[in-house]
Amino acid sequence: MEKPLVLFIFLFYWHLLNALFTVEAPQSLYTVEHGKNVTMECTFPVNGKLKFRELSVSWEKKDELKKQVYVLLRGEEDFKSQHSDFKGRIKLLKENLNFGKSLLQITDVKLRDAGFYRCLIGYGGADYKTINLKVKAPYRRITKGVVSTGENEWKLTCQSEGYPEAEVIWQNREYEDLSDKANTTYETGSDQLYRVTSTLTIKSRIDEIFYCIFWNKELQENTSAILHIADSADGVLWTESRRFVGEILIMTAFFGSVLLFTLCVRKVRANKDSRTTVAISSTAKLSKDKDTHDCRATSFEDKELKYMQIEET
Ligand SMILES: *[C@@H]1O[C@H](CO)[C@@H](O)[C@H](O)[C@H]1NC(C)=O
Ligand SMILES: *[C@@H]1O[C@H](CO)[C@@H](O)[C@H](O)[C@H]1NC(C)=O
Ligand SMILES: *[C@@H]1O[C@H](CO)[C@@H](O)[C@H](O)[C@H]1NC(C)=O
Repeated sequence: MEKPLVLFIFLFYWHLLNALFTVEAPQSLYTVEHGKNVTMECTFPVNGKLKFRELSVSWEKKDELKKQVYVLLRGEEDFKSQHSDFKGRIKLLKENLNFGKSLLQITDVKLRDAGFYRCLIGYGGADYKTINLKVKAPYRRITKGVVSTGENEWKLTCQSEGYPEAEVIWQNREYEDLSDKANTTYETGSDQLYRVTSTLTIKSRIDEIFYCIFWNKELQENTSAILHIADSADGVLWTESRRFVGEILIMTAFFGSVLLFTLCVRKVRANKDSRTTVAISSTAKLSKDKDTHDCRATSFEDKELKYMQIEET
């Protein structure tokens, strides 16, 4: 705990004495999603080759109590003073120091990482900048459930995790608001996230749909799911099996018509081949008429044939 304090006092006085050395923060606000990585950047002047032994870099978080995030004191890293919040998740991308960049990488960002960070640099002179880190957690995956609770009565459930608290809005097929009939509970889940569960009990006929919308006011973000009231308790399974049956019907119809068409064409071909011989015989002509009648809808060839027959007569 002693070294960073010494560093801070050192930097503080240098800041007063040496106004020429300035640290810059190209981006003063970072917004990152919970669980992702973030790299925050500060720049400082380096003239020529970096003298590592003369460089001190520090990142700290301004909470009620100051938390040490990273310390490099005159070229030497010091992890002993690092606050437990950041253990194992912090890396300074040292190769970039040569180019006058202090890049701090935080991996697997937690909600509690949100706040203000100060990056201090001492190199000849000393200076610091403050950077704001915002962490968001959208309600991305919605788990849904449909349970029959009686005659035409259903209990619909939607559950998701995120931050901050989301309002849950329910709508029917016509987008009418049903939220006042729903019950929404908020629990604290993993890493400060809210586990929001909303239940709507409603009378409905089969084959109706409902929407649940997680409305995250602070992020101005909506995530929604569709719930399908189906014949069995497991709506998803039912619609999938229905689609499967539908596919079989289409395939059967397709192959059936192909078969029929082939048969008709064959019949017509056979008739055409025998046409010259049967032209004289009126009985054969009769049978041919019967054939063309059977396949009229499917074969173009037979229309031509019929036309020729009329010409002939
Ligand atoms: C975050 O950084 C760690 C370590 O560098 C890496 O293994 C991981 O794949 C990164 N995750 C994402 C989401 O980029
Ligand atoms: C919501 O839940 C509470 C407690 O489980 C219950 O007393 C209340 O009647 C429910 N409200 C609605 C609208 O279902
Ligand atoms: C989210 O949905 C609510 C309710 O339908 C609506 O009032 C709001 O404007 C929507 N917000 C966005 C950003 O789409």
